[in-house]
Amino acid sequence: MQSPGPVNTEVEWDRFDPQAYVRHNYADLRSDDRELLRRTRDFFAAAKLTDARCVDVGSGANLYPALTLLPFARAIDLCELSTSNVRWLRTQVDGYDELWDPYWQVCVEHPAYAALSDPRQRLAQVGQVCRTSVFDLPQHTWDAGTMFFVACSISADRAEAEHAVARFLRALRPGAPFAVAVMLGSVGYRVGLRSFPAVALHRAEVVAGIAAGAYDVTVHEERPRPPLRDGYQSMLLTTGRTRG
Ligand SMILES: C[S@@+](CC[C@H](N)C(=O)[O-])C[C@H]1O[C@@H](n2cnc3c(N)ncnc32)[C@H](O)[C@@H]1O
Repeated sequence: MQSPGPVNTEVEWDRFDPQAYVRHNYADLRSDDRELLRRTRDFFAAAKLTDARCVDVGSGANLYPALTLLPFARAIDLCELSTSNVRWLRTQVDGYDELWDPYWQVCVEHPAYAALSDPRQRLAQVGQVCRTSVFDLPQHTWDAGTMFFVACSISADRAEAEHAVARFLRALRPGAPFAVAVMLGSVGYRVGLRSFPAVALHRAEVVAGIAAGAYDVTVHEERPRPPLRDGYQSMLLTTGRTRG
């Protein structure tokens, strides 16, 4: 029988080029990311978190999920498997590039974020980069978390996507607010000259996987026409609180 494609441990994650990824995906703030950012911001602002221990899983080369946690965090752990992305993340935690300023500008449209005058300095204070796999996260450790474009994009194995979501939710304390974003219908993606695998997820299976470990779940599907990026149908943002 033909293999559906590589599993997570078969992919050369250390060859992921964070600069190329950022250039391609985040150099300009696109309308789909803006919408996900706005919704995630409003969700965490309404969650009334204070002094929270937060996590962003599979941070790769994207800071905006971590920015949505910043005003409420006493710590943000950026958990990532790829050594090249870990190196990139450490430079960004020390003082992030101006490219992320427009993303923070979207955040400060909400008063809970506007109250934070120096987000760069705050991230340097609370951010910590950890080289770890989503599959090895400890249980019930964080008060809030984000995981963006990871479950769909870490292998071609559907079971691993489901497992990644379950592990992420289980890593949060019971009742913890979270935001998970995935690409639907992804056929894989290129980063610089390299190709990385993906699973063509369907909305119903993602929502069922989240609902198995969460309550108060909300779902938003962002379908820009024409698509803003190659190789996927839409973006799905789910927010909610973990059952524990
Ligand atoms: C498509 S990128 C998403 C990056 C970023 N979160 C974003 O929003 O653009 C997938 C990320 O998952 C990371 N990754 C792959 N396998 C992983 C694993 N087992 N645990 C944690 N992260 C992993 C990759 O290195 C990469 O940074």
